[in-house]
Amino acid sequence: MHVHRLEKIFLGLGIATLVAFFAILVALQIGEGFTPPSHIQTIDPTKVSSTPPFDHPGLVRRADGSYEAYYVGQVFSWQPASLAVPRGAKVTFYVTSTDVVHGFLVEHTDVNLEVMPGWVSSGTHIFSKPGDYLIVCDQYCGEGHASMFAHILVK
Ligand code: CUA
Repeated sequence: MHVHRLEKIFLGLGIATLVAFFAILVALQIGEGFTPPSHIQTIDPTKVSSTPPFDHPGLVRRADGSYEAYYVGQVFSWQPASLAVPRGAKVTFYVTSTDVVHGFLVEHTDVNLEVMPGWVSSGTHIFSKPGDYLIVCDQYCGEGHASMFAHILVK
């Protein structure tokens, strides 16, 4: 079989690109310790509503003055739908799902968590600016996906 010289070059470029991307993935995995954010805590997704602290989603104040916020995602809402924290609050979010994969994105922060049934994802943010922070679902989860949101009020 005769393969044209240009075809060989394009084939070579394609293979080289794949190898390079794979090498970058492996390097990030090893060098930066990139892992899914939810590999630490697991939960039975069928028993979320009876498993503390997710049986009472909401805010918990720690002894050091920071906060833990427990959220449950299910089609098509976040619980709690609204929370209020004082300006400067350091909030660590713990989020899980009872049904399908959701995405927990807190606008204007770098909290953007993949929320999978069976796992507890977490991320932390210090709310130094007051405002009404919108939480949206950024993983398509069904026909009500666009109405899956909540608010955090920072005063
Ligand atoms: Cu939940 Cu999209």
